[in-house]
Amino acid sequence: MTKLLYIKASPRGAESKSAALADAYLAKLRATHPAIEVDTLDLATERLPDYDGDKVAAKMTVIMGQSHEGAQKTAWDELTEIANRFIAADTYLIATPMWNGGLPYKFKQYIDLIHQPGLLWGLDPEKGYFGLLQNKKAVLALTSGAFGPNMPSPAFGVDYQSTYLKFWLNQAGVEQIEEIRFQPSLLTADPEADFQAAVAEAEKLAA
Ligand SMILES: Cc1cc2nc3c(=O)[nH]c(=O)nc-3n(C[C@H](O)[C@H](O)[C@H](O)COP(=O)(O)O)c2cc1C
Repeated sequence: MTKLLYIKASPRGAESKSAALADAYLAKLRATHPAIEVDTLDLATERLPDYDGDKVAAKMTVIMGQSHEGAQKTAWDELTEIANRFIAADTYLIATPMWNGGLPYKFKQYIDLIHQPGLLWGLDPEKGYFGLLQNKKAVLALTSGAFGPNMPSPAFGVDYQSTYLKFWLNQAGVEQIEEIRFQPSLLTADPEADFQAAVAEAEKLAA
């Protein structure tokens, strides 16, 4: 059975357009794949631990090929548990707005927590980073108020949102990535018509 992890990065709940877009995708996907198992990770309500000194030390210990003891072991176990929820999924549905050119801070915190050596990636001293995830797909539902792929850049912003997400997913080994965009969501003559067009794209992709 396919496991889908649905990550919501906007704190706007029912008002979130990125989540609404992802919801439209998921509704269509569920209609054609009723057995799909969905795990929803709402970053607005999820309690994420601070990335404190013990967690930094635990990560460096793994990179140095050493083993953990005491507080570092506790920290590493906590990171592993959070990352394992991500690793358990076959498909990622990621709904995120652009915040200041990039990702909302809680989403970046989540990525920093789970993007760990030996769990999501490895490092070859000669060839560089390699991803440890295999045969996984991601669908990105992206919103931004002023930025749009067809808007002049940098005047209306620079896209560190989709570019960063794809960099991160690629480094973890996720190569198959699709995008659905409602961009711009504010600077448009007819936001509702543009949103409905994005929903139609989302449904087409899911079908
Ligand atoms: C803190 C914050 C920062 C934002 N930064 C940008 C930005 O850099 N570029 C942009 O085009 N829109 C920016 N926006 C607007 C949101 O990306 C836009 O309203 C989006 O549609 C919200 O998606 P949501 O409904 O899923 O929350 C920002 C909004 C907030 C709250």
